[in-house]
Amino acid sequence: MIKSTPVVGTPLDRVDGVAKVTGQARYAGEYPQTGLLHGSVVSSTIARGRVLGIDSTQAMRVPGVIAVLDHGHRPPISSYDDDYSDADSAEGAPFRPLFNDRVLYSGQPLALVIAETLELALYAGSLIKIKYAEEAHQTDLGACQQSHAAPAETPAPRGDFAGQFAEAPVQVDATYLTANEHHNPMEPHASTVHYKPDGTLEIHDKTQGTQNCQDYLHKVFGLPKANIRVRAAFVGGAFGSGLRPQYQLPLAVMAALHLKRSVRVSLTRQQMFTFGYRPRTEQRLRLGADANGRLLAVAHDALGQTSRFEDFTEHLVEWSGMLYQCDNVALSYRLASLDVYTPLDMRAPGAASGMIALECAMDELACATQVDPVDLRLRNFAAHNANEGKPYSSKELLACYQQGAERFGWHGRNPQPRSMRSGHRLIGWGMAGGVWEAMQMKASAKARIDARGHLTVSSATTDIGTGTYTVMTQIAADAAGVKVQDVTFMLGDSSLPNAPLQGGSFTVSSVGSAVRQACHVLRTQVLEHARNMYPQVANTPRQQITFIDGYLHAGNHRWALADIVASAPDGKFEVQIDAEPGARRQPFSTATHSAVFVEVHVDEDLGTINVTRVVSAVAAGRVINPKTARSQILGGVVWGVGMALHEAALTDHRLGRIVNHNLAEYHIPVNADCGDIEVIFVEEHDDIVNELGSKGVGEIGVVGVAAAVANAVYHATGKRIREFPITLDKVL
Ligand code: MOS
Repeated sequence: MIKSTPVVGTPLDRVDGVAKVTGQARYAGEYPQTGLLHGSVVSSTIARGRVLGIDSTQAMRVPGVIAVLDHGHRPPISSYDDDYSDADSAEGAPFRPLFNDRVLYSGQPLALVIAETLELALYAGSLIKIKYAEEAHQTDLGACQQSHAAPAETPAPRGDFAGQFAEAPVQVDATYLTANEHHNPMEPHASTVHYKPDGTLEIHDKTQGTQNCQDYLHKVFGLPKANIRVRAAFVGGAFGSGLRPQYQLPLAVMAALHLKRSVRVSLTRQQMFTFGYRPRTEQRLRLGADANGRLLAVAHDALGQTSRFEDFTEHLVEWSGMLYQCDNVALSYRLASLDVYTPLDMRAPGAASGMIALECAMDELACATQVDPVDLRLRNFAAHNANEGKPYSSKELLACYQQGAERFGWHGRNPQPRSMRSGHRLIGWGMAGGVWEAMQMKASAKARIDARGHLTVSSATTDIGTGTYTVMTQIAADAAGVKVQDVTFMLGDSSLPNAPLQGGSFTVSSVGSAVRQACHVLRTQVLEHARNMYPQVANTPRQQITFIDGYLHAGNHRWALADIVASAPDGKFEVQIDAEPGARRQPFSTATHSAVFVEVHVDEDLGTINVTRVVSAVAAGRVINPKTARSQILGGVVWGVGMALHEAALTDHRLGRIVNHNLAEYHIPVNADCGDIEVIFVEEHDDIVNELGSKGVGEIGVVGVAAAVANAVYHATGKRIREFPITLDKVL
């Protein structure tokens, strides 16, 4: 029997790579349209109060300005909170753009100017005068005196934390502060609404969920879903910023419906700081351990910020109850409501921030017990997820520690802080672990093979730069037994089979399973037809029939799928299937893990920190494409370096306004800030998590990195900095 060579597992180049580097790939704000109008958003300059009046007389006098919409001048929109909810809503009353005169945060959209060109719209927007009745605001989490329990399901306490902590021979009690961070994908948010002669809308939107946006518009504007098609063929990064419909979308639709014209609304880079973000946190970690570093008690108490209208929650403290073996655990999570916009999931939401606290505290415990940080983690390894009372479907974290340490050269480390240097630069080595959930959602896919033998597979999912086009092509090619060149994968269109939001690292798991199943069913249909057509196929036992590179092989013969399909009544076969998480997952906990090793050089005189080397060892099940998967981890590591050293959206609390709202002053790592990054995927076999055995890699890369950098800074300098980002003023 002829064996096939799978494409899954090979580093296939991005199938959309050429389109992207040659500029043929269009993003939401790039679709041309005859007679397209341009909208510019006018934002609030106060953080809290009421709008008394919006004077657009001067703006309307500018030739080429068509209209100004505001809460007093706009087409009807729903007033029900529920109609503004979406698939990633926080609990509460979602923001309603241009709904009424309330100002809920600085940067809130208050008016939309529509003009013949973007430049005219921007200019006219600058002429609009808004009168406010300002009210006292609070935007500072650190100064906020009030908080309430987060509505999230925090795991219940187990054992007796207080008693065990009090009696523990070694105690760590430390508080860590993290900063607000904005996603800032390269592509700013934009929506191009094509208003068709029949009144239906075809919309190109920057989103991680075309159907989420379609559903939102359906509810907010009371339009039939059939009249709204939302597309996102290419997305220039999102990282969570496109999980909820952003306000440029309803504003563009409002204008299109009002004027019965096609309209585009793009946000400026500054306006990219006027919606969701990773929220600032204050986290207290208490670890009680025996003299050998075995954990006796763990408490993680977190405070996060949210808006006054929604309670945003993320998985901030859970990790402290599951990553390590400990019987006495207490976790708490509170929120403070401020006059700000609601936070939003950002790459590894909760884990990226929460694991900073846990993994820095573990480093402090390693120092207190004089146990090597890797050894400390080996001693506290948990084979079960005690939060859920379930074993893991797989957890090759020990291999991550071992292979990462080996590659990094960790065994050569002198544990003494300030013991390693190169000239006037102190050298520090730090490490941390990472964890993220391996989820699966319901998803559907359609597969069709035509008389040329070409396979077209589709699902409404998106590709936010992660490589979805490419990995789905690989999965489909293997499952159907055709060459990758003969596969087209279609996505980013609300009219395609249902898909969940692209987020949570669950796209491969969810959509990939649907794609695989659809292709398998399709193959069975082709086989049934071939058995009717060719006696040799009918006489060959099914187990001996294979599909390879576009041919059906039976015995010593092969038949081109193109010929088989051509002889079918319709000249094609087509199937659509709905996939859902397998029942076998139920008794298990599923998660990805990592171990991150970092070297920093710290200039003693200047306080500057350079990350010179990173090794990230990841256990995420089967890797579908080592090239795109590596890119995901590289991006995550760079982001983690940013969390550690650079990124912070800074608010002037007197104004309640973010002041560094541009890419010059909002610092992210550039090439010179990133040394050598090495990615290891450790072997991890898992036939429980899903049928592909693949857990997803979009988020695990960032988790643990910031803690590893901070721990390296401590090792270099002997200074424990618990407020992130670790800027040079804190090092000096
Ligand atoms: Mo990710 S924060 O689920 O886009």
